[in-house]
Amino acid sequence: MALEAIEWLGNRLRILDQSKLPWEQSFIDLSDYRDVALAITEMKIRGAPVIGIAAAYGIALGAQDITTANKEEFLVKLEQIMQTFAATRPTAVNLFQAINRIKEAAIGDSIPEIKRRVIDEAKQIYQEEIEATRRLSQLGADLIEDGFTILTHCNAGPLATAGYGTALGVIKAAKEQGKRLSVIATETRPLLQGASLTVWELQQADISVTLITDSMAGYFMNQGKINCIIVGADRIAGNGDVANKIGTYTLAVLAKENNIPFYVAAPISTIDLSLSSGAKIPIEERNPEEVTHIHGVPIAPKGIKAANPAFDITPYNYISAIITEEGIIRGPYTEGLRVIVC
Ligand code: MRU
Repeated sequence: MALEAIEWLGNRLRILDQSKLPWEQSFIDLSDYRDVALAITEMKIRGAPVIGIAAAYGIALGAQDITTANKEEFLVKLEQIMQTFAATRPTAVNLFQAINRIKEAAIGDSIPEIKRRVIDEAKQIYQEEIEATRRLSQLGADLIEDGFTILTHCNAGPLATAGYGTALGVIKAAKEQGKRLSVIATETRPLLQGASLTVWELQQADISVTLITDSMAGYFMNQGKINCIIVGADRIAGNGDVANKIGTYTLAVLAKENNIPFYVAAPISTIDLSLSSGAKIPIEERNPEEVTHIHGVPIAPKGIKAANPAFDITPYNYISAIITEEGIIRGPYTEGLRVIVC
């Protein structure tokens, strides 16, 4: 049985600590919203859709603990809690979509009613994400042919999404259709989501997978060993530009050079029509120590400068199709994305 990345237990939130996988399967019960926010920042829970779910439940936890009987004061405190979550990670738009949905749901005549609505909305977001990943996976599976070798980058499985997964969901659904497949997964430096999470999830799903370092991808493409690439997304701008884990852009350019289809699989909650292009997507810059160290062990001289942008932007013209729960969209994307979101 697959492990649940996140579980609402009424008065607390249980998360699987992804920073310890695959060596240790440990769950953390969080009852203070600040601890949920910290778990997002520290990437104990990670992946765009699941960050949105965690923030929604985290706000619900925080709302339960507000003690005032004054509605105006309650709403001010609720807003402060939402701001705490908005400051955790900047790139994945699912986080901000979830916060906005909770904000809109937080209405009612009494404080108990508002608290109940906030919890109901968080549960609804969770259920919708599960259903979205199931549907987009089924749709995307039709793009995969029997015998394909698929390259994926970072982790876009159930751990990152709740439910079925996005990029990995498509691969799993194709296997369930009886297609014989194999996967090449990049290790995904600096935090190694591919090496520690993706290959682990594929192994559990009994899908043949080979781990490579990020720099090997071009070699395998040029050797004709890859039939298509599927990745997830953290934010898709209105023109189809995609923010995803650092290194995605490099893969997309190599794919075009080698005539390999490059697919992005993401739920509608990842689409941000308020931004006209990827140039406007905020890119998270993380601690340089994630580059100079691996699991706390230094790999570079002390004091060396390092840069650590966590995501990059792949321009729409490198993307063969975007797979969503409402259908597969091909470029030009502006109209197609607008139609499925609205
Ligand atoms: O920094 P992370 O681990 O939260 O980033 C997640 C990704 O960028 C993944 O590539 C994923 O595809 C997007 S979420 C399904």
